[in-house]
Amino acid sequence: MTFTLEATSGNARAATIETAHSTIQTPVFMPVGTVGSVKSLDMQDMAELLGAKIILANTYHMYLRPGDDSVAKLGGLHKFTTYPNSFLTDSGGFQAFSLSDISKADANGIEFRSHIDGSKHYFTPEKVLDIQYNLGSDIMMILDDLVALPATRERIALSIDRTTQWAKQSIDYHRRKQQEGIGVNQNIFAIIQGGIDKEFRAKSATELCALDYDGFAIGGLSVGESNADMYDTVAHTLQYMPTDKPRYLMGVGTPEDLIENIDRGVDMFDCVMPTRNARNATLFTSFGKINIKAARYKYDEAPVDDACDCYTCRRYSRAYLNHLYRAKELTYFRLASIHNLHYYLNLMRQAREAILEGRWSDFKAEFYRKREG
Ligand code: GUN
Ligand code: ZN
Repeated sequence: MTFTLEATSGNARAATIETAHSTIQTPVFMPVGTVGSVKSLDMQDMAELLGAKIILANTYHMYLRPGDDSVAKLGGLHKFTTYPNSFLTDSGGFQAFSLSDISKADANGIEFRSHIDGSKHYFTPEKVLDIQYNLGSDIMMILDDLVALPATRERIALSIDRTTQWAKQSIDYHRRKQQEGIGVNQNIFAIIQGGIDKEFRAKSATELCALDYDGFAIGGLSVGESNADMYDTVAHTLQYMPTDKPRYLMGVGTPEDLIENIDRGVDMFDCVMPTRNARNATLFTSFGKINIKAARYKYDEAPVDDACDCYTCRRYSRAYLNHLYRAKELTYFRLASIHNLHYYLNLMRQAREAILEGRWSDFKAEFYRKREG
């Protein structure tokens, strides 16, 4: 993987990441395709979506079903899904933590029960990399130890120590595997933890960023803390992160969150929000969110957003989407997801142009002004 920083405007960055499968221009939003599919869309839709050069998939889900060995037999994620661009795979730590009713971390890994059939499994740092070698993702996330907040200082201290220990094991294992010819084109990112505590974040970031990773993520945020706490924690943590590698904020967020964190120097984001909200009738527009199921749209012949040139807005009215939603038509999910993803990807593209042209702060001001108007 190569990372080329092209421009900064304030703390905002525009860069290019080159993987074996695609050229990714940052700031980038990665649509979430948990089980190897962006919900309600297919890979042709993804190809037609504005500049979608990387999708996030989940180790936890692909391991449980269809099984990473099955994916490997079918040629890996790219061949199996037909998606020609990049995949980033999350490690499974977060999903074991959030989806399993029983998940227990110890010094060596995380035990959890499948949310599908209740069967017991155990993830170690090495195991989640072996799974990701089978998947063949372009960027692999390492196993991290998450804690539910609020947590005691002792528990957070244990979480970051464990995460650092696992990160050392993971990078050693990966570089060894690469020497054996496994995962040669796969990149590996570590995940900084530490809640919203400045000391813990500094410690976690310093320890992890000393290791030979291809990029670094900030994890453990957007889990119920205030926006101000999230933004402060990100700004603080970024100070300890290298400028010559990608910086990824996991699981974030709203359009405002993206703008605020680009403003602080984040390059990469993922979130279920555009697709999940689409399915719940919340559509993003240049003037804020709308609820497409509202009665006021029943006879509204305008597109969702006049400023949007997505497939959905070019063809269909708010009235038609309102009807499809109310009738629970499956087509609604696709059209709404295309619009919301287009909105997110277009926001990133415009942000990038503004950074490249040195007018980031004007762009940010304009973003907020449109929502007030
Ligand atoms: N997705 C959102 N937040 C996190 C995190 O802290 N760790 C992992 N592995 N995935 C995440
Ligand atoms: Zn649209």
